[in-house]
Amino acid sequence: MQRKEKIFNGKTLAILSGGGDTPAINSSIKNIRNRALLLGYKVYGIRSGWKGLLGDGDIIDLTNQPYNGLYGGTALLSSRTNPFPTKKNPEDRTDQIIKNLKRYKIDVLITIGGDDTNGAAKRLYEQEGIPVIGFPKTIDNDLRTRTIHMYNNQSNEAVLCPGFPTAALRVSEMVRHLRSTNESHQRIMVVEVMGRDAGWLTGSSLFGGAELALIPECPITKEKKEHFFDVVKEKYKDKKNLIIAVSEGVRWWNDETKTLDMVYASSETDEYGHKRFGGVSGVVASEISNKLGISARSQISGYYPRSSYCSEYDAQLTATLADKVLDLLLREDYGKMPVLRKIVDKDNLEEFNTGSIDMGAIGNQPLQDVYYNTNEFTFTDAYVDFLKYILGNPFLPEFGYHFEKVKPF
Ligand code: F6P
Repeated sequence: MQRKEKIFNGKTLAILSGGGDTPAINSSIKNIRNRALLLGYKVYGIRSGWKGLLGDGDIIDLTNQPYNGLYGGTALLSSRTNPFPTKKNPEDRTDQIIKNLKRYKIDVLITIGGDDTNGAAKRLYEQEGIPVIGFPKTIDNDLRTRTIHMYNNQSNEAVLCPGFPTAALRVSEMVRHLRSTNESHQRIMVVEVMGRDAGWLTGSSLFGGAELALIPECPITKEKKEHFFDVVKEKYKDKKNLIIAVSEGVRWWNDETKTLDMVYASSETDEYGHKRFGGVSGVVASEISNKLGISARSQISGYYPRSSYCSEYDAQLTATLADKVLDLLLREDYGKMPVLRKIVDKDNLEEFNTGSIDMGAIGNQPLQDVYYNTNEFTFTDAYVDFLKYILGNPFLPEFGYHFEKVKPF
């Protein structure tokens, strides 16, 4: 027998996206929207993250509208607005949020974000009882999802957030493309990669041919730095070119001030208290040139990994996690975030591989020790295995000719 009434007819669900964008947000919005429509919800989009619920509100209707889920970025726009009082903005604006949720008759809120956006959503759920479902999003891949990665019969707690698969693909492609110019000039290329305080994204440079990497989880102290220069010298010796990936948030020993420093692009902080990183690759490259006498250049990958179209993996991942949102909506189980239970390749991303975690348990998750060798400054085979699920096999093109050297007569 066919149901005449859809279960949530007359109810409204609203979606917002906050924090740094990723190429997988539009795909997440479209997938969540489509499933909510099946349940009978009217679907709104809140523009510019939490900002769209302040003042008069900035809300659009997504119900039965065409929507391009493959285009990168977020059609809902994004901001780093924090409704809770902060150092930068001591005003508590949660009352405006609550007022607008009532004014626009929003019954359920879906927050697509990382730790900051979903942290605020969690507080609204816990303190004000607002029905919220968080949806993971970050290129940094540092939002705890408790996704199990089995390697060598060992179970590792990894992370898999929508946005990371596409960003990892972009980083690996960019590094792969940089190889030819680097080889031609027999240089050391220091490629800086976003990721805040975690090295997950930097690891994807490996699939483009980066031989060494520096990550925030391994601070480069005075002693470590000396060892690092020895390793660089040794590695460069045979090949006469080298790519080193450097996380934007790596701590690097400053010989002059005798301090472990992070390099910031600006001293300004956002509403969650973060300063903007940027520039450490320049410091590392210039010290390599000066200390080792090898030509080194820095290259900041910047916003490129965050840009352009959503990858196939991300399109599947967001669809799978949206299926779990549907399940949570049906059970009216709020204060949860859908996650992937175990790492699988894109063809095996299915709803039965998902679970959910309490938003109270969300938080940042750095790279596990098993994935990085602090003595060799390289990612381990376990990390290669983790990435293979997402990126397939590494592909490293070569010039392919080996000419014989001519001797004079
Ligand atoms: O958190 C995502 C991220 O891309 C980080 O990797 C980076 O440090 C930050 O956002 C950059 O932020 P913004 O877009 O404000 O410059």
